[in-house]
Amino acid sequence: MIRNEIQQVKQRFGIIGNNADLNRAIDTALQVAPTDLSVLINGESGVGKEVFPQIIHQNSPRKHAQYIAVNCGAIPEGTIDSELFGHEKGSFTDAKDLRKGYFEVADGGTIFLDEVGELPLATQVRLLRVLESGEFMKVGSSKVQKTNVRIVAATNVNLSEAITNHKFREDLYYRLSTVPIRIPPLRERQEDVLLLFRKFASDCAEKYRMPAITLTDDAKQLLLSYRWPGNVRELKNIVERISVIEETREITAETLKYHIPNLTMEKLPALAPRLTDEQKVFNSEREILYQVLFDMKKDVNDLKKLVHDIMGGNIPAVHAVDSEIYTPATVHQKPNIQDAETVEETLSLDDVEKDVIRKALERHNGRRKNAAADLQISERTLYRKIREYGIE
Ligand SMILES: Nc1ncnc2c1ncn2[C@@H]1O[C@H](COP(=O)(O)OP(=O)(O)OP(=O)(O)O)[C@@H](O)[C@H]1O
Ligand SMILES: [Mg+2]
Repeated sequence: MIRNEIQQVKQRFGIIGNNADLNRAIDTALQVAPTDLSVLINGESGVGKEVFPQIIHQNSPRKHAQYIAVNCGAIPEGTIDSELFGHEKGSFTDAKDLRKGYFEVADGGTIFLDEVGELPLATQVRLLRVLESGEFMKVGSSKVQKTNVRIVAATNVNLSEAITNHKFREDLYYRLSTVPIRIPPLRERQEDVLLLFRKFASDCAEKYRMPAITLTDDAKQLLLSYRWPGNVRELKNIVERISVIEETREITAETLKYHIPNLTMEKLPALAPRLTDEQKVFNSEREILYQVLFDMKKDVNDLKKLVHDIMGGNIPAVHAVDSEIYTPATVHQKPNIQDAETVEETLSLDDVEKDVIRKALERHNGRRKNAAADLQISERTLYRKIREYGIE
């Protein structure tokens, strides 16, 4: 499969991620789409199975016919046969009129049987028949009808266990899983976690018209080490919750721990050798830009710390602005400065800088080269500053 096609599917269906197994799953869906083969989508709860039957239907010659999604777990056992296959008038108490079932309505199209493991055994018999011969009967009727429906089924439970426990027919299982597609759990897609985080954060930002939340480095590490029992759904819910509840936009590990009580720093052994995947994270231009921004932020913070260290803690205001970016404004205009009294007396940022330079020159007996190295600025910048501030 040409990679381009996979990318197009992702864009069209809003799938985020670059994990090799996820790509393979999309690839298989595209390969099998034009055929009539039954497909069984398998994967833990919340991994993103729901979109796959749609990918298959939309890329098949059936795309102009009906697509019907049935949640087998949500329909009461007493009415499921009637929903799927229809019923004759008067076939049971509530059957006042003749009713067409999904298999009749979706003739020529696709039916998605979600949570297929929940089907009652009697319904499984009917389903097996329609899969094998295209034949079915309405409830309360003895007339055999024909239909041409393609089945895509999904399950988040282990069907072999259900077979062992006689809850699921083995013959039906083999008939449904002509082509099995496995969607990997999120903990096996470490490289996708931060991509998904950013996507959900920016969706949320757009929805609620506020800046998107971002993660500190240790918060990122924490997310990468988490097992994600609820997979992508859990991540999405957490991002939404934090976006709305937290006022601050830069989310720390502490904040994450508060919102995900099960979070631990424990590294997953299965993820340890996946280091090369990190490179994938930097694949797109957007990723690189993000990284540049993060690095710049870090540099600015380092600079601030340096200034603070050089000042030897003489000016408490510098402490308070530690997590903020300096603007050319004067220090006392900063909103969150602890000691307003002291700050009013402090110098403007230019004065602070002038003072720092003068002290550095003093320390190095006027040797500009050494002073520049000490200040971690270029000699040329130091010359310019000396001229600018008129330092002797
Ligand atoms: N790769 C992805 N990119 C973007 N969103 C995703 C991705 N995977 C899952 N989601 C989102 O996560 C949520 C859960 O996905 P989905 O409903 O498909 O899970 P599921 O596998 O069907 O789970 P269950 O077995 O519990 O029904 C949805 O809101 C879906 O849009
Ligand atoms: Mg689902």
